[in-house]
This record gives sequence, structure tokens and C-alpha cells, in this order.
Amino acid sequence: MKIACIGTGFVGVVTSAVFAKLGNQVVGLDIDEKKIDLLRQGIVPFFEPQLSELLVETQKTGNLTFTTDYSQGIKDSDIVMIMVGTPSAPDGQADLKYVFAATESLAPHLKDGAIVIVKSTVPPGTNAKVREIIKANTSVNFEMASVPEFLKEGTAVEDTLRPDRAVIGVESDRARDILVELHKPLTSNVVIMKPESAQMCKYAANNYLATRITFINQISDLCEANGADIQEVIKGIGQDKRIGAHYWYPGLGYGGSCFPKDVKEIAAYAKSINENESLFIKIDDLNSKRIGRLMAGYDKLAGGFAGKTVAVLGLSFKPNTNDTRVAPCLEVIPWLLDHGATVKATDPKAIEEIKPLLPTKVQYLNDVYETIKGASVVILLVEWDEYKTLDLSKINSLMSEPKYFIDTRNQYNASSMETAGLKYKGVGR
Ligand code: UGA
Repeated sequence: MKIACIGTGFVGVVTSAVFAKLGNQVVGLDIDEKKIDLLRQGIVPFFEPQLSELLVETQKTGNLTFTTDYSQGIKDSDIVMIMVGTPSAPDGQADLKYVFAATESLAPHLKDGAIVIVKSTVPPGTNAKVREIIKANTSVNFEMASVPEFLKEGTAVEDTLRPDRAVIGVESDRARDILVELHKPLTSNVVIMKPESAQMCKYAANNYLATRITFINQISDLCEANGADIQEVIKGIGQDKRIGAHYWYPGLGYGGSCFPKDVKEIAAYAKSINENESLFIKIDDLNSKRIGRLMAGYDKLAGGFAGKTVAVLGLSFKPNTNDTRVAPCLEVIPWLLDHGATVKATDPKAIEEIKPLLPTKVQYLNDVYETIKGASVVILLVEWDEYKTLDLSKINSLMSEPKYFIDTRNQYNASSMETAGLKYKGVGR
């Protein structure tokens, strides 16, 4: 099939490359010339495993091309996917200006019978507005559809190639047949519904996962108060098939470019329809306050951070990405500096990305042990593989008293830390 992918952000690049890999003719379209130039050279402007290789491979076969020209990108496309950014508006709802701008630009070039898919995360009702804009700018027949994206950063290529399901929101049998055919090589598990439901699936999935993380964080806090260990509790409840043990680890709260934003959007949407008691308002509030609350506890535990050197491990929002949007370090490091600590920090991929976002007095090092050298507290923020099998005796020899290892991702346990002569603090244990 001939597909135009508008927007070469995270979802846009991954989706274009994956559909091209499956043998479709894909044009990636963006108004940003610089980005398009880089992508043509196979350079991805962010770190994502397997993506650069896929980009090179699919451009070599001729299945993937990039352009900044709407006419060239849209005129032959059977399917047009809108995947532009939806930043948060001041009231917390999604700001749809880029979606509408892309719609206006694509409309005059649409081929008769094209299917326009809104893949950006947008509130139900958006398709109707997109349809109006297109109608005002073209006389050809077209159809609207909604196919939300469920990929995760760090495993985006894998998630797109082998999704658990494809959710396809359509208004006609014709669009259903075309889109089922398109997604067939990815999964046989295709769920068909109306576009509004498909859009709600995206919000519901992300808000459920954010709620699940907030729930386990709340249970962790209770565990700390009564001597239980959250890791044991997770094992115990996870055996219940209705609950499951996956995607269930506690920490400093959810971050990244999706959950914080999507929960805020659904909370703002709930308020806008007078659902002022909405669960999502509370979830957002709990998550927003979590780091401050936990840091105050760690401060007490370590006998005050003032005058201490703290080594921070992990600056991205999670492992296998250099994305720093709503990364825990963005709150943790300023908190430490405000409380009088000296901060040394490291990350396998995100040092350059984080530098402009943090005060200049933070010292960055590439080597994890150099980072820990001379620190009296280590805070592990991101569970990069590199930080999962650290040499604890070496760490002991490099640290100064009180030698606290704060493990916000529960990668270690108290007994191995104690054996190595370190004081351990996990989450919920
Ligand atoms: C998330 C969803 O998982 C994807 O399905 C969705 O497509 C994507 O948002 C999106 O809307 O585009 P992503 O933000 O890449 O993907 O990252 P996750 O791996 O889901 O992690 C989100 C946050 O939750 C991270 O801060 C992570 O550390 C935290 N988390 C995750 C936990 O604290 N505990 C967990 O058990 C899992």
C-alpha cells in the first residue's frame, strides 16, 4: 500500500520504517527540513534500539522516502497517517494545533478514496474536527479512521513489529478491510471498533497503566510503614491471574512523554465535563508529589544531604532511551542541590540531552565508578543494564561515610548491600 506518515517524531519514524519494512511504499513527511535531511542519511535524532538500521535498510530498498513537500507526499497515498505532536495546553488538555495544521496542509492533495488516520493521541471528537477541515479544503471522497499506537520507547521497533493487538477504529467495511490487510503481517489480533472508541482505548490503556504504577507505589508506602517487602507482595498478588506480576514495579512514579501528559489530559477532560471527583485528578496529584515526598524521607535517612556528595545514576526517564522528558533526575537533582548537596551524575546515553536542563554545577562523568568515587550517597534512578550488576565491594571502597545506596528501582537487596558494607534503601521494603 502507499502510505504517507505525517510527523517524523518518535511514533512517526518508527511507524514509517516498520510499514516500509513490510513492503509498503511509505513517504515520511515533515516540515522540518533539518530532520528530513538527517533521516535521509539514516540518522535518527534520538536513541532507539534497532531504528537506525531499519531506517537505512528500508531506504535502500526504496520502500521508504522522506519529503517536506505535502503535494509529493500525499497525492498518491491510499493511507495518510497523522502523527504530529500534541503538547499540553495550559488547562492540561491536548493542544491540537499541529494536528489541525497538518490536516489543512494535507487536505488539498488528498487522493480520491484515501483513508486519513489520526494516530496522534487525541481526545474523542477530534476526528470530527479533522473531517471538517479536510472537507473545507477538498472535494474528493475520503474516510476517517483511528488507529492508536501502543509502542514503548526503548522497545519501539519490537512493539510495532509484534504488537499485542491492533486497535482499528473505522466507519466503513471498506476502511476496515484495507486496514486489517495493512496490519495483518503485524498481528492477527485485530480489534475493530468505531474511531471514538479507538481513541478512548489509547487514553484508557495509558491511564490504566499509570494508575497501576501509582497503586503499587501506594502499596509500597504502606509496606514501608509495616515491615512488609513490596517485592514479596508483588510475587504473592501476581499469582492471581486477574492481577498478574508484570508491569508492576514501584519507584519514584511514572515519567516520560506519555503517562504524565495523558493522565493530565484525561483529568482536564474530566474537569471540563464536571467530573470533578475523577480518579485521574488524584492519580496526577499523587504522582506529581511523589518525588518530593520520597526525597524528604531519604534526606532524613542520610542524616541530611547538606554538605554531602551524591552520585546519581541514570538521567533518562527510563532505560534504553535518551529521552529525558519528565525524567526523575529533573526533579531529584535540583532537590539535592537546593538541600546543599554536591551532585555527580552519569548515564549511558542521556548526558548531553540532560545538560541544558539542569543547573551547571552538576558534574557529569561517563564512568559509573568515577561518578561514585567520593560520594557518600548513591541514588540509582534508572535501571539501565549497566547498573544492575555493579561491583558492590568496589563501590564500598570508593564511597565515603555514611555510604548509603538508595535504589529507587529495587534492583538490589539489603543483604548483598550489607555484606558489601553499604547501607541500603529500596522502595517499599
Ligand atoms: C507508554 C506506554 O507503555 C505505551 O504503551 C504507549 O504507547 C506510550 O506510553 C505512548 O503513549 O506513546 P513509554 O512512555 O515509552 O510507553 O514508557 P513505559 O515503559 O510505559 O514507562 C512509563 C513510565 O512508567 C516510566 O517512567 C517507567 O519508569 C514507569 N514505570 C513503568 C514504572 O514506574 N513501573 C512499571 O512497572 C512500569
